[in-house]
Amino acid sequence: AADDVPPSPEAIRGRVLMFPLPFQGHLSPMLQLAGALRARAGLVVTVFHAAFDAPDPASRPPEYRFVAVGEGVPSADLLPSGSDGDFVGAVLRINDRLREPFRDRLRQALAESEEDDGGGGGARCLVVDSNLRGMQLVAEELGLPTLVLRTGAAACLVAYLAFPALCDKGLLPPPSHDKSLLDMPLDELPPLRLRDMVFSTTTSHANMTRCLDDLVAGTRSSSGVVFNTFKELEGPDLRKIAGAIGVPVYPIGPLHKISTETSLLAQDRTCLEWLDRQEAASVLYVSFGTLVSIDEAELVETAWGLAGSQVPFLWVVRHDLVRSSSSSSPRHASLLPAGFAEATQGRGMVVPWAPQHEVLGHRAVGGFWTHSGWNSTLESVCEGVPMICRPRFADQMVNMRYVQEVWRVGFELEGGLERGKIEMAVRKLLCGEEGREMRQRAKDLRDKADKCIKDEGSSNSAIEMLLKRILSF
Ligand code: UDX
Repeated sequence: AADDVPPSPEAIRGRVLMFPLPFQGHLSPMLQLAGALRARAGLVVTVFHAAFDAPDPASRPPEYRFVAVGEGVPSADLLPSGSDGDFVGAVLRINDRLREPFRDRLRQALAESEEDDGGGGGARCLVVDSNLRGMQLVAEELGLPTLVLRTGAAACLVAYLAFPALCDKGLLPPPSHDKSLLDMPLDELPPLRLRDMVFSTTTSHANMTRCLDDLVAGTRSSSGVVFNTFKELEGPDLRKIAGAIGVPVYPIGPLHKISTETSLLAQDRTCLEWLDRQEAASVLYVSFGTLVSIDEAELVETAWGLAGSQVPFLWVVRHDLVRSSSSSSPRHASLLPAGFAEATQGRGMVVPWAPQHEVLGHRAVGGFWTHSGWNSTLESVCEGVPMICRPRFADQMVNMRYVQEVWRVGFELEGGLERGKIEMAVRKLLCGEEGREMRQRAKDLRDKADKCIKDEGSSNSAIEMLLKRILSF
């Protein structure tokens, strides 16, 4: 993108240090933010990363400095475990295990920055993922200002801010004797219900509380919070947050529209040629993001549901999508049930990883079956594509509620995965009147997203404010 042109050496006005969480859904927005900063303000970038999570040297921008942290820490210690991925456990371990090694690396980077970028003002601040409170504390110790990047929706932070009060009321964790409470609407958090606040079934309540306490404390002690969202989409929640945390908020999204990203995985681009041969708004794109997994029975139901819908589909089956399958399995398609390929020949395509932005922006794509991760939700909104939502954990239920109840650009596929239900949901989205109305509302949101990054747009103004802030450090 034109925005990604690096500054000439004499134009360099300082260095920004960044520490993303080592997962694709968090790393991409951080690198996109890096791209936006260096292009507009002559800032150069150092990216710290967990040693196991080195961005592909072939696709990372050559003028970025990448610094590995925690070489001696086994990657298994830092990755989510369990069927729904104990993401919270992984976040806590990353903070515990990488904090000490980071102190040395940060000292070193600050000294080098003084030497190398002397004329430009040296290191101005550390931008940390909101889950990396441990790294933020190290920067605070060394006297470096910090900014926090929230890669999720503003709505999600509003939910996190309300978490302690719901615990105090005895509603969280949900009382096990009364399941009906789960459907209770939360008056203080419309459109959320109690069940949408159960962010994990694999994490202990103590760990969840610690993780969210750290996250909120980090936002409050930062010099500002950057959001990958835009004012026209989440204005009321952004205002609530600004009031609650008392530091400036910068809604500068959609980040993938202002800067290119680095993908950790090889993309199968042949699917774009296949999409070229399909009719406008006819194809369902199916992807469950980077972390969600399903069991073999769910894979089979999904396959036959897609086949039975008679709708053309492009389905991402990651090598580790199915829980019991070996992650070294080289052929993702071999996981699919016998007879499926023949039954859907010419009408369906299965890939291990897709160029999602381009797929969602393709005229042939008319709907997205998603796990409701925030990046996927935002990318879909920005291309005017309505959604079938199947949230599993973390912020995904919150995102789904906003898609269904607030923006009304999709609906939840609830309960067990059964082929008949899938067929009906797919046909409702792609072939029905309700789906058509959702598509129209999604296109209205897309137009707003397009506007906010233009010259007078809200996100563009927020980036200008953010740059001023960074250059004032
Ligand atoms: C995780 C959590 O699950 C989610 O709740 C949180 O909001 C972010 O972190 P993840 O599973 O990574 O999310 O999903 P998502 O946020 O949607 O990000 C997935 C990214 O991978 C998107 O940017 C998407 O464009 C990309 N992707 C996905 C591809 O490029 N190709 C694919 O085939 C699938």
